[in-house]
Amino acid sequence: MRVLLIGANGQLGHDVRRVWPIERPSDELVCLDHGQIEVADLVSVRAAVGAARPDLVVNTAAYHRTDEVESQPERAFAVNAVGARNLALACREADAVLLHLSTDYVFGGRKATPYVEDDPVDPINVYGVTKAAGEMLVRATWPRHFVVRSSGLYGVAGSSGKGGNFVETMLRLAREGRPIRVVDDQTLTPTPTRELARQLAVLAGTERHGTYHATCQGEASWHAFAAEIFRQAGLSPALSSQSTAESGAAAPRPHYSVLDNRALRRAGIDVLPDWRDGLAGYLAERQTATPTDVGGRG
Ligand SMILES: NC(=O)c1ccc[n+]([C@@H]2O[C@H](COP(=O)([O-])OP(=O)(O)OC[C@H]3O[C@@H](n4cnc5c(N)ncnc54)[C@H](OP(=O)(O)O)[C@@H]3O)[C@@H](O)[C@H]2O)c1
Repeated sequence: MRVLLIGANGQLGHDVRRVWPIERPSDELVCLDHGQIEVADLVSVRAAVGAARPDLVVNTAAYHRTDEVESQPERAFAVNAVGARNLALACREADAVLLHLSTDYVFGGRKATPYVEDDPVDPINVYGVTKAAGEMLVRATWPRHFVVRSSGLYGVAGSSGKGGNFVETMLRLAREGRPIRVVDDQTLTPTPTRELARQLAVLAGTERHGTYHATCQGEASWHAFAAEIFRQAGLSPALSSQSTAESGAAAPRPHYSVLDNRALRRAGIDVLPDWRDGLAGYLAERQTATPTDVGGRG
């Protein structure tokens, strides 16, 4: 299979590049970064997809600085919604499958139990609205798609959209000996991009198109996640909790956005570990990564 990866220098893109050749060695991977394709521009998208002649397009590109996006709805809509539509159109023209990444933030957090794939979306911030629109445009444009929602991503490349990642930020603050306050009223499932990349490779080997939740197992508040990072790293900084309101973030966040990987489980292809084991894998991996790899954009 010829696979075209969009957003190849991003956090998830970096791990797709590393994991795909291991998981699917007979695939040919063509990688494009932002300098080589602009997803918001249909001409650019058609040219890139036309030149690569892929069987599968994996779209990890997004504009996802959640707070900044509140005041940049046009740009966010162009990348996250129109960009997804452009890729779906180009995939339809090329008869290629589209695997498009989405987010837990398409949900508003009013549930108290994990969200399943067919729960109605009800985003409460601009980022979530644009991602929900992107999903809908993909579904409305081209049936041969996978829409994969994940949550709380972190990887050795660090998020280029957000700069660094949560784990590296926590470790840095602990090293600096600063008191650390982390929100305890947002519950989600932290997921390493390396584990998600493996799951994407497994899913791509099927013809079971549709919408999937793909996070690690279990759930944690950001505060519980921070506490587990310090426990596993053998650190004991002064960690305390704060509420989302106290944090002063510009964008509202869902209080509960845990995703149930029900569709993956029913298909018998859920390979994602418990979030604590995912964290242990990341902490081991960062020991062997180069310094510029680890949260390099932070
Ligand atoms: N990070 C999270 O916690 C999280 C949680 C749930 C879901 N997701 C979703 O998971 C996916 C991957 O996230 P990530 O953390 O890997 O993001 P990331 O590190 O910001 O990577 C995104 C990549 O896309 C590129 N890109 C941005 N705008 C583009 C455009 N208009 N055209 C072409 N390329 C563009 C970026 O390049 P430049 O940096 O050069 O612009 C970057 O290399 C996204 O769909 C995101 O919505 C993320």
